[in-house]
Amino acid sequence: METKYIEKVAKMNSGKNLKYAIYTMGCQLNENDSERICGMLEEMNYTKAEKVEDANIVVFNTCCVRENAEDRLFGKLGEMKRLKEAKGTIIAIGGCMMQEKVMVEKINNSYPYVDIIFGTHTLHKLPEDIYQVLINNKGVEDIIDIDGEIIEGFPIKRNDNIKASVTIMNGCNNFCTYCIVPYVRGRERSRNPQDIINEVQCLAKQGYKEITLLGQNVNSYLVSKKINQENISYEVAIEDEKLIVNSFATLLRAINKIKGIERIRFISPHPKDFTNDVIEAIRDCDKVCKLIHLPLQSGSTEILNKMNRKYTKEQYLNLAKKIKEKIPEVVFSTDIIVGFPGETEEDFNNTMEVVNQVKFEQIFMFIYSIRVGTPAEKMEDQVPEKVKHERFERLKKLYEELVAKRNKDYVDKVQTILVEGKSKTNSNILTGRTESNKVINFEGSEDLIGQVIKLKIVSEHMWYLKGERI
Ligand code: 5AD
Ligand code: SF4
Repeated sequence: METKYIEKVAKMNSGKNLKYAIYTMGCQLNENDSERICGMLEEMNYTKAEKVEDANIVVFNTCCVRENAEDRLFGKLGEMKRLKEAKGTIIAIGGCMMQEKVMVEKINNSYPYVDIIFGTHTLHKLPEDIYQVLINNKGVEDIIDIDGEIIEGFPIKRNDNIKASVTIMNGCNNFCTYCIVPYVRGRERSRNPQDIINEVQCLAKQGYKEITLLGQNVNSYLVSKKINQENISYEVAIEDEKLIVNSFATLLRAINKIKGIERIRFISPHPKDFTNDVIEAIRDCDKVCKLIHLPLQSGSTEILNKMNRKYTKEQYLNLAKKIKEKIPEVVFSTDIIVGFPGETEEDFNNTMEVVNQVKFEQIFMFIYSIRVGTPAEKMEDQVPEKVKHERFERLKKLYEELVAKRNKDYVDKVQTILVEGKSKTNSNILTGRTESNKVINFEGSEDLIGQVIKLKIVSEHMWYLKGERI
């Protein structure tokens, strides 16, 4: 990445004790982008503000996957006017929502005090945008529609020192009919394996223990290159070995060899691309957590078809069964959308049935929200709000019953956990997670943070378990 503008702004800001604040409003990919934004801001001599009122620059990293993210942004933007008037704070908005023309128009019309609007393909140009604002005192709009190339070498300021996320690919080619992501993040572009491996090795050296590989469709890693007939066979150097990476499965196997990393997670795979080589890699790699996020979205074949998910209820169930046969200790988490257009009571009951059968460890539940510009926006028979909410509550109830039952299974068992830090609510308590992502609280000394230890589970509470050292 070019650092010319970082250096220029850093010089202008030097000795001024300037501060920044950032609002991260989206998924883990969005969070990972925010870590890069913070990295750039810190190199430009801004330090993190304790309170937003102290900030000289405020950055909003937006999301547009569901409607509530918009409401949150506009609420916060209204509050920014006072800050702008009081101290001339620079206001910058970036992220997925800024790739939607209607949103940019709305901001230009209703929030004229916003200085910088940048998109998902121009993140690396934020330093230049800030420079232009400082020099010309005029707003900048820096958005492009074409897929940005993958930029390496961003400065990065990570939020955590035990767990880190590493983006392996950008964009999505799937066009699920409810989803805005392919329109705002562009087509799939995979990072080169060696760049990913270098980043993970660097994290391992810094003491990170858990890596989450990120992408909209991780198990099609490198596939789009194959479609474009580019070479996808890479020889990578790892520790003292040379390996070939040519797929997601081989990438997992390579990262599994990096010394110091204890756990590898990945989100999100697509069920339609869950090939046997990926299942075998998960089985064989000791560091890959045996919790697989397998987005279901709906349990009704008819709705899945309307969603363009490219699998049926039976194919999904068979996939879960096949994975479980090959990796008996595996558990699943999932995403479910309730109230997709045309969803009948029977369709919804199919979703409930799949949930009952697969017994997901974790469910991320969403009420369908219309995204302008997606095919589902135009579908007739949108489900009334009241029905959507009522179904959501039914699913939530079933999920909570499943969690309560599963929690009981944990009691008296020994679990291996990665100790992540102190509990947010009680500093005498440490907190960690099992491979299955269950939160475990226990009493222990601080030097355990970052270690993988065994605990006996002594009691269960809805969203966490209590453990004891053995
Ligand atoms: N409405 C509700 N949920 C959605 N998701 C994506 N688009 C929508 C939408 N329009 C959910 C999907 C996806 C998760 C990240 O967000 O379940 O897997
Ligand atoms: Fe959206 Fe589907 Fe792509 Fe996921 S796979 S980002 S839900 S279009």
